[in-house]
Amino acid sequence: MSRTDVPNPSLWLATASGVGYPALAPDERVEVDVAVVGAGIAGLTTALLLKRSGARVALVEAGRVCAGVTAYTTGKVSSLHGLTYRELRADFGATTARIYAEANEAAIALVAGFVDELGIECDWRRGPAYTYTTDEKTLPRVEEEVEAAQAAGLPASFTTETELPFEVLGAVRVEGQGQFHARRYGLALAAAVDGDGSRVFEHSRVVDVDASAGVCTVESGGAVEANQVVLATQIPFLDRGGFFAKVSPSRSYLLAVEVGDEAPVGAPEGMYLGVGGQTRTLRSAEGGRYLVLGGASHKAGQEPDTTGCYDEIERWAREHYAVETVAYRWSAHDYVPVDGLPYVGKLPFGDGRVWVATGFNKWGLSNGTAAAAIIADGIAGVPNLWASTFDANRAESAATFVEENLNVAARFVGDRIRHLVGKDPAELGPDEGAVVDVGGERVGAYRDAEGQLHAVSLTCTHLGCHVTWNPAERSWDCPCHGSRFDVDGRVLHGPALQPLERKALGGSEAR
Ligand SMILES: Cc1cc2nc3c(=O)[nH]c(=O)nc-3n(C[C@H](O)[C@H](O)[C@H](O)COP(=O)(O)OP(=O)(O)OC[C@H]3O[C@@H](n4cnc5c(N)ncnc54)[C@H](O)[C@@H]3O)c2cc1C
Ligand code: FES
Repeated sequence: MSRTDVPNPSLWLATASGVGYPALAPDERVEVDVAVVGAGIAGLTTALLLKRSGARVALVEAGRVCAGVTAYTTGKVSSLHGLTYRELRADFGATTARIYAEANEAAIALVAGFVDELGIECDWRRGPAYTYTTDEKTLPRVEEEVEAAQAAGLPASFTTETELPFEVLGAVRVEGQGQFHARRYGLALAAAVDGDGSRVFEHSRVVDVDASAGVCTVESGGAVEANQVVLATQIPFLDRGGFFAKVSPSRSYLLAVEVGDEAPVGAPEGMYLGVGGQTRTLRSAEGGRYLVLGGASHKAGQEPDTTGCYDEIERWAREHYAVETVAYRWSAHDYVPVDGLPYVGKLPFGDGRVWVATGFNKWGLSNGTAAAAIIADGIAGVPNLWASTFDANRAESAATFVEENLNVAARFVGDRIRHLVGKDPAELGPDEGAVVDVGGERVGAYRDAEGQLHAVSLTCTHLGCHVTWNPAERSWDCPCHGSRFDVDGRVLHGPALQPLERKALGGSEAR
């Protein structure tokens, strides 16, 4: 079954079917060596590497396998991450920049190895990746990035030659990078995990991990008992380790468009990221049938006009390409770490038996694969040269940490003030959502195309911030840590575990 039951399925969701795995049944108890929670790129890769090292694994997924943010990406598996290396070297030193490059290059090789060995048909291609600019002020940063990337060990060079239909002032070009259909890849990893004592479970949201006893218990209606637990849920849902204050959710928008045959410039072979001025990502997919392009990033839950973000990308696409059809459009968010490095390692509880991987900075296809290798080595007791660089318990700069917390605090207080005035529910038109006023109480309401009202509490069940309406995805999004809920309050995206409280609007129109 392909996933088209969400408002805006990605190209990858719409064109790859999963086989379906059972849910962990109520009262079922499964005993394994390691429980991996979350079946995105990080969890799938960790589970497969652990199985390869001889462990029995249970992979427990809240929704469908590889239907989280991994299935909403651009599908670039790259070590060139915008203008990362200059900043890493300035903030952490040359060794950290080199290790970051090394870990990501090794991740590309790991993906290539699995594609080859498992015969995965996922449109895997190697080629150059570019970070380009059309902005004069940004050009010196691009030039510095070439030098920093070379110093970090990457095959980087400066160029002004690209396949883009406009002139660029300069670009970093790195050879040998990868691109693929992320969901086809993820589904194949899941198939390789399942069996021989290892299990995959879908539709099983984990609500707690008890690591106080000799064996860890992962609770999800049923339970998995394991010696070690890996939280590969994009952001950990347990309030341990302070990650809610160390990463922030950044949302972006992508389109897959078909370009006319007569177009002077078609879909490119390489992968592109524009920096300075508007940030734009671009690649081709499905044998050149589609051009995938995107950008328009903002903090999740903090942009009222999300439909306008899609419009912005479409305008840009039409300005530069002969767009015939917008075939798919989708959006998602990833977690940006305060200091630029992912957090990978042990959580500070449970005697070091609970592991975490988060903060991939919108580069989790490679960073998440590298994280999986670090965790799988850690659990197997194999020394890993990258582990200390990505250490989940490292100390961050106080300044960036404070900045992120101020943003969350501002949302916590500001949203309550902003929502003091709500609409009258009767004013809501079809397919419209808004904060409404019901007898002096503000609630979130959505009127569907049939005229029925769906109403929920605005209080996020995670830590109590106020959710905001996302018109493009028809969801209630939390501006603090990125939890998302559907119009009836069901959790679409953690870290929240519980639904929003349903509200009655009085009369028969609410349901
Ligand atoms: C628009 C966009 C484009 C991007 N493009 C790229 C790109 O081209 N290249 C790149 O490298 N990176 C890209 N990224 C970043 C990349 O998508 C992420 O960093 C990466 O996919 C994260 O993988 P993950 O496994 O941590 O998360 P996910 O893929 O989201 O997997 C986490 C899984 O955990 C499950 N889960 C959550 N809570 C629970 C629970 N309580 N119990 C059980 N399961 C749970 C979720 O349902 C989900 O399936 C992009 C990000 C965005 C937003
Ligand atoms: S996601 Fe943390 S308060 Fe809503």
